[in-house]
Amino acid sequence: MREFSDNVVKQRAQLRLTRENLDERIEKAPFGEKTKALARKWAELESVGGPGCGVFDIPPVFVSGKGALLYDADGKEYVDMLAGHSVSNLGHCNDELTAIIQQQAAKLTHCFDYPHEERIRLAEKLVAHSRMDDGAKVVFGVTGSEAIELAVRAARYYTGQPFILTAYGDYHGVTYGTMGLTGKGSMQSYFYPIRPDQAIGHFHFPHSYRSEPGRELDPLKAFERLLDSSESPYTDGTSGVCNVAAIVVEPFQSAAGYYVPPVEYLQELRRIADKFGMLLVVDEIQAGMGRSGKLWAFEHSGIVPDMIVTSKTLGGGVPLSAVIARGDILGQWGPGAHVATQAANVLACAAGNYVLDTVSSDAFLERVNEAGEHLVRGLRTLESRHAIIGYIDNRGLYTGVELVLDRETKEPAMDAAGFIRDRAVGEGLLFERGGYYNNRLQLIPPLTITNGEIDRAIAILDTVLGEAETQFKIG
Ligand SMILES: Cc1ncc(COP(=O)(O)O)c(C=O)c1O
Repeated sequence: MREFSDNVVKQRAQLRLTRENLDERIEKAPFGEKTKALARKWAELESVGGPGCGVFDIPPVFVSGKGALLYDADGKEYVDMLAGHSVSNLGHCNDELTAIIQQQAAKLTHCFDYPHEERIRLAEKLVAHSRMDDGAKVVFGVTGSEAIELAVRAARYYTGQPFILTAYGDYHGVTYGTMGLTGKGSMQSYFYPIRPDQAIGHFHFPHSYRSEPGRELDPLKAFERLLDSSESPYTDGTSGVCNVAAIVVEPFQSAAGYYVPPVEYLQELRRIADKFGMLLVVDEIQAGMGRSGKLWAFEHSGIVPDMIVTSKTLGGGVPLSAVIARGDILGQWGPGAHVATQAANVLACAAGNYVLDTVSSDAFLERVNEAGEHLVRGLRTLESRHAIIGYIDNRGLYTGVELVLDRETKEPAMDAAGFIRDRAVGEGLLFERGGYYNNRLQLIPPLTITNGEIDRAIAILDTVLGEAETQFKIG
């Protein structure tokens, strides 16, 4: 016990950002004076526990945006390859979306979690796009985490089983109900002394780059052998016992670093779920809604899940989430099973109707794929010029770039990735640095980005990758 708490104290000390560190970071940040003054005020008044100082050294302070461009308080322009972490998929201040929200605001903005016309229209569309058989049902929430909790609750209630299985590296939120599913080691420390949900089991996520060729699915096979046996808390395969309610997974791993698994990943999970009588829940919160060049990322595998969880871009920037489930699953719930004051907000649902119509249209998805191809062509050119690029994951405008010190050894270029992100901010390009080894660039622009804006991003990357190679003696 003593050792455990010492460890927690050590972790906390490592993670804390002191006022002096912050002032220093702000001083050397590549921003004008107005932005720096706002950043100082922000750091003085707000907890720095949010993502700002996690994603950036110091985040810019934005005042406006249009399409794939953002502007800080000094008017500096940035090409946005973050898109609010895939919320602003239709671009900042999309004209149609703005008009819909304005018109709806003059009509009805909120009516608790009661029925209204816009949510009914949206539920009908979500069901129609779910690829599930007739009778699927929707439950609305506000945030992604809330929707994941709803899906977990519905799965446990329906099956009467406690366990949820997920992949290491998956991100499903950081509330008490979701943190147990999320693979972020350092964040766990903030939940002590009461640990998050513990009826969770993990398996390894398959990815080509760091596994033997053709052997990506081996860890999944080993996990299945465990389930076949009597020696895990999840199942007793020898006597047909299953203690698992659902497998809950991201179809692609986003917050972990934008990793695309082999198409067999979800196919295998579908088969395993069916074999043992578990439900399969896909978290499409970040990879869904057109980002991967298809409406849902699970469509790349040709499977149909039992529940789909969506949020982020769904409300077009107004908070909204939804679970779409097989009718028999949500049909089990009685009145009052789920209540949230802000769920299915009318503005969010009005926006959601426009967003879903747009991102599900063939013409829009075709353009996402074209833009994705343009981005990958640019990245391949950079790959031929910069030895630091080890691997590129891509589907549509879902892109992760792995940086290495050496292409042979694949040693992660963690510090160089941080340098590149910081220099890119200076040059007017925003993206997140992530990856299992903190060595990846996550490039997720609004889906409306133009080829010209992509070219601008590639030119900036060309400069800063070159600088990083000199600085870290790579290539
Ligand atoms: C895949 C995935 N699931 C769940 C969540 C949690 O959503 P929220 O932050 O809205 O609670 C996120 C957020 O980034 C996510 O990317």
